[in-house]
Amino acid sequence: MFDCFNRRINYLRISVTDLCNLRCRYCMPEEGIEQIPHPEILSFEEIRDIAAVAVGLGVDKVRLTGGEPLVRRNMVHLVEMLSSIEGINDLAMTTNGILLESFAQPLKDAGLHRLNVSLDTLDPDRYRQTTRGGDLRDVLRGLEAAKAAGFKTIKLNCVITQSADEPDAQAVATYGREQGCEVRYIRCMDIRNGSFWTVEGGDGGHCSTCNRLRLTSKGDLFPCLFSDLHYSVKELGIEPALRAAVGNKPASGHKSETNQFYSIGG
Ligand code: 5AD
Ligand code: SF4
Repeated sequence: MFDCFNRRINYLRISVTDLCNLRCRYCMPEEGIEQIPHPEILSFEEIRDIAAVAVGLGVDKVRLTGGEPLVRRNMVHLVEMLSSIEGINDLAMTTNGILLESFAQPLKDAGLHRLNVSLDTLDPDRYRQTTRGGDLRDVLRGLEAAKAAGFKTIKLNCVITQSADEPDAQAVATYGREQGCEVRYIRCMDIRNGSFWTVEGGDGGHCSTCNRLRLTSKGDLFPCLFSDLHYSVKELGIEPALRAAVGNKPASGHKSETNQFYSIGG
């Protein structure tokens, strides 16, 4: 699928839940968020069908995000369902890594190709503070397990305040070199106020080459992270919603009143 600006749209990011087992200060309110009523959440079958139609229209890259994808029950099964769709050349997941130690091998066996793990600091106290209670050791064990399971390209997503020269970012860089993981620096953004940045070391934020669509766990397709435009697959049907999202993808975004990182997965 090509959009009005001749960008080829081949990348679908699927948020499987708004929920998370952490409360990162830049992402979630301390008290957490209101749970979406279960019937409103897309079932695995619905997600699989949407992915399959998207692949039929030219998507070849799929990423599972959240919230935290691994807090949704039976995620390994969803990965199995998606990996059996012919035409997905790249099936990835973005996770905070807290539950990765036990899930790494099953995810690999289910056909997941790649993992991005969020890691902003290697200081246990600052990790606990930023995530409001997370235990850094869980993430480090998760990363070990992912390597042991045979994941070749593990990327570390590191949220920075200003620059990659910050001490925490530098420590993550060193750790990444030691572990053979690439580091992506993501400057902290504010969707509401329209402050957004490109991702250092990644493709995010380059509007002129943006190839993405985002699907929320409720079934809304967002053509742009920084725009309120969205198209419901439940109301419009899968293919019309995909075509509408691609056909109306803005040249670039400004800000969004609707989007939240925890429901759109970054
Ligand atoms: N700014 C930038 N990235 C964010 N994420 C969450 N909140 C923000 C924000 N305010 C991204 C981070 C994190 C992923 C789950 O979502 O990259 O690793
Ligand atoms: Fe959870 Fe990720 Fe948001 Fe942190 S940034 S609260 S790990 S969804």
